[in-house]
Amino acid sequence: MYVVKSPLSDADLKVVSEALQGALVDLVDLSLVAKQIHWNVVGPRFRSVHLQLDEVVDTARLHSDTVAERASTLGVSPDGRAATVAQTSGISGVPEGWVKDVDAVRTLVDALGAVITRMRERVEATGEADPVSQDIFIGITADLEKHHWMFQAENG
Ligand SMILES: [Fe+2]
Repeated sequence: MYVVKSPLSDADLKVVSEALQGALVDLVDLSLVAKQIHWNVVGPRFRSVHLQLDEVVDTARLHSDTVAERASTLGVSPDGRAATVAQTSGISGVPEGWVKDVDAVRTLVDALGAVITRMRERVEATGEADPVSQDIFIGITADLEKHHWMFQAENG
């Protein structure tokens, strides 16, 4: 069912919609991973890491909405269902239970790194197909890389 007419050609739309859908699941999963660790972190640096994780949650939630609504804007139905996220996220799973602060930070460095790598690939992939969507990916990448820097500095 097509409700919203896309301004893009079918070929360009295919490239951009795959990039937006991939970004959506990565960002939803990043928000879940960061919350999971926010609740489970323990150790001497609990307070700072606990609060820092919620900043990642805020960024991931904000930008998951940005990319989902960009997809809708282009006439593509976004899929943020739990099963879809579980099957297609680029983030490795997080073990259950308490997480030492140093491991929590390491987990976030890895998770952010994985999402950033895929987001930069989306920047590359969408430049010609749709520079407007590419601009969104660039902005998201900048925000994620700032978080990535701060978590790397935590364990420096
Ligand atoms: Fe909280």
